[in-house]
Parts: sequence; structure tokens; C-alpha cells
Amino acid sequence: MNQQSYYRWWQRADLCYQQEHLFFAGRLVQGLADQFGTPSFVYSAGRVKENLNRLHSALTDTNLAGRYSLHYAMKANRFAPLLTFLKQTGLCGIDACSPGEVGHAVSCGFTPSEISFTASSLSVQDLTMLARYEGLFMDCDSLHAIHCWGKLKPQTRIGLRVNPAMGIGRAANDKLQYAGEATTKFGIYQEQFDEALEVAKSYNLTVSKIHFHTGCGYLTPQLAQLERIIAHCFWFVDRAGQVERVNIGGGLGVPHVAEDQLLALDQWATVLERQFGGRNIHVEIEPGDYLVKDAGLLLLGKTFVERKRNTLFVGVDGGFNLAPEPAYYNLPFQPVPLRYDATPCSLASVVGNINEALDVWYEQAWLPDLTEHRHLALINAGAYSSAMASNHCMRGRFKEFLLF
Ligand SMILES: Cc1ncc(COP(=O)(O)O)c(C=O)c1O
Repeated sequence: MNQQSYYRWWQRADLCYQQEHLFFAGRLVQGLADQFGTPSFVYSAGRVKENLNRLHSALTDTNLAGRYSLHYAMKANRFAPLLTFLKQTGLCGIDACSPGEVGHAVSCGFTPSEISFTASSLSVQDLTMLARYEGLFMDCDSLHAIHCWGKLKPQTRIGLRVNPAMGIGRAANDKLQYAGEATTKFGIYQEQFDEALEVAKSYNLTVSKIHFHTGCGYLTPQLAQLERIIAHCFWFVDRAGQVERVNIGGGLGVPHVAEDQLLALDQWATVLERQFGGRNIHVEIEPGDYLVKDAGLLLLGKTFVERKRNTLFVGVDGGFNLAPEPAYYNLPFQPVPLRYDATPCSLASVVGNINEALDVWYEQAWLPDLTEHRHLALINAGAYSSAMASNHCMRGRFKEFLLF
């Protein structure tokens, strides 16, 4: 990626340089860094709402209008002001994956009946706690979960999370796939499905939903695979017999580098329309990334700039423990300066303050002379960042702010 494209691909009306200064959500980012200190996450409520609205309008333009719903996957970012804001928009429910998440969503205003629950490896204690939320909809992802839920809530309706043994992910990144060639812990496989239906029947449970989430970060080039996966999953729908809803999971991605092709939402909606249009089925989608990732920045303080051998290192006061995705999943979070005037930059390696070799934010960052700079911002830090943060090296301190 050359310097020009490094600075061009991610700028948009609410995140861009204006007279050389970086602005986000109508604010001067330097002002935010000075006011809040670092490390700080800042999220734009306006951008989250825009992302939600864009998804809604893509779907309302299809024949699925009136028979789909969006459930925000709160594992992506559970910052309480953000969840409260989402509740107030009235534009989505919640996808939760632990009793703790359900309690948190309820404390932010969502009712249990607005929550769709899908998780793996649940204990009997987990399921017992979850059964106390009247109206919570449970997608069971193992025979064990069906047995436990059946004992706790016989004669109710459930969903089954299935594993179609087909996966999807950004740029064929295997780490982002939840199903595929490798056998994973997620969902009920085709060969066990009849047994799962028998177990459900033995507790008089009605299987009214089929759920699958097969991977994360898909963009336009992966839409053909999404379509193949959905088509394949009708095998489960037809086998179960009384299915009213299909949840296609999340996984809608946002670009991370200039070469990434933006997810064409009209094409995505056309895939759903083609697959579900002729069926009397309500479609659920549970995006995390797509709603919040590009609505967040991580503001970091510069700690040092030093050349070691042939590499220019720029150190910052937050490491991979605050936003583990780049290190765990090879998803780059691009660092950008708070001032930029298009004069020639140098390539630098931006590194954090954790004593681990993988604590590298970005290896080929085009950065200006930073002598007069005190901060950097990481873009795309709104999802799977603070929510996955740890206190490794006792560097877990950070702040979060929702901007309106
Ligand atoms: C069951 C389920 N649904 C939805 C999501 C959200 O995925 P994404 O943030 O990629 O949209 C996940 C993420 O892991 C998931 O496991």
C-alpha cells in the first residue's frame, strides 16, 4: 500500500482530515485525546446508527421487508452507554452468549424477549440461570444443551444452532471461521441432527428456529460462499419441519486495509432475498463488527520513536491486550496521526507497551515526522477491542467514551 492509499481508503464524512487535523464524529481528535487522556476508546453513536440504518434500508428494499430482525451481537462491544443507546434507537435486539451478557443487556434496558441467546459449552448452572429470564429465546448448540433446556423448560420453543461444515471469513482467513473443514465445537452437525430432533421431541420442545454463524469479516468477494451456506442450511430447515425463523448469524465485515473490498450491502440483501424470498420464514441477522467496528477509535499516546537496525519503531502507551484482534486474528488496525499534511512519510512499525513479541499494532505504517505529535489513533477499534481487553502486564487500564 502506498502513502496515498494508506490515507485515502478509510476517510469518510465523519472521520477525515480537515485542514490537516483529524476529525471524528464532529470533534477534533486532538481535543479528545487532550481531554480524555490515553489510552481511550471513543465511539460515535451517530456512526453506529448510520450502520444500523444502512442495514435496515438494504433489507427493506427487498421482499424481506417486515419479516427480518437485527440482533446486535453484544460480544463485540458491551460498553453500557452504547447498549443503552442501541436500545433507545429501537432498531435492534440483542444477541447474547453468556448469562453475564444477558444480565448486562437487561440492565441497559433490553427485555429478555428482545434477546436471542446462542452460546457453546454451557454448564447446567448457566442454563439454570438463563431459564429464569422469561421470554429469552434459546438456540441450543449441542445435544447436552437440548437435554438440559428440555428439563428446565419442557414444551417450549427452541432454536438449534447447526454446523453446516462450511465456513466463511475475511480473505479466506481460517482463524475467522467457525465452521468448515476442521471440526469445531460450534453447532450440531448434519449427522447428529436427527438425534437432536429426537431429543427435542422427548421434552416436547418445538424446534422453531435454525441458527448458523459460520465465520466473521466477510466482504463482497465472499458473498457467493454466503449464498452456498444458506442454500445448504435449508436441509436443516426442511428436516426440522416446523421452522419459522432462520438466524444467519453475524459475520458482515468492514474493510481493514485499502485492498479490502467494501461489503456491497445491496448484493448481500439480494442474496438473502433470493434464498428466503420464496419461503415463509422470518430472517434474523446478528451483526457485531458491522455495527460498531468502524465507529470506534483507540487514542494512544506516543512513547518513543527510535530506529533499530533497519526498522523505525514508534511506541504507544497501549498494547495488544487492549484490542487483541490484530494479534489474535491478523486483522490490522491502521494507526493514523492526528495531523497530516500529505508531505512524504516514512514506513514505521507501531508497537505497544506489553512484553510480548506479538505486541505489534502495524508493521508498515506510513507516518509523518512525529516530533511534534503526542498521539496516534487506531481506526476500526470499535469491536472486539475493549470487550476482549485483559490486564496483561498490569497494563489493562483504559477509558471509554460514547460521543453523541
Ligand atoms: C453466534 C454469533 N453470532 C454473531 C456473532 C457476531 O459476529 P460479527 O461480529 O462477525 O458480526 C458471533 C461472533 O463471534 C457469534 O459467535
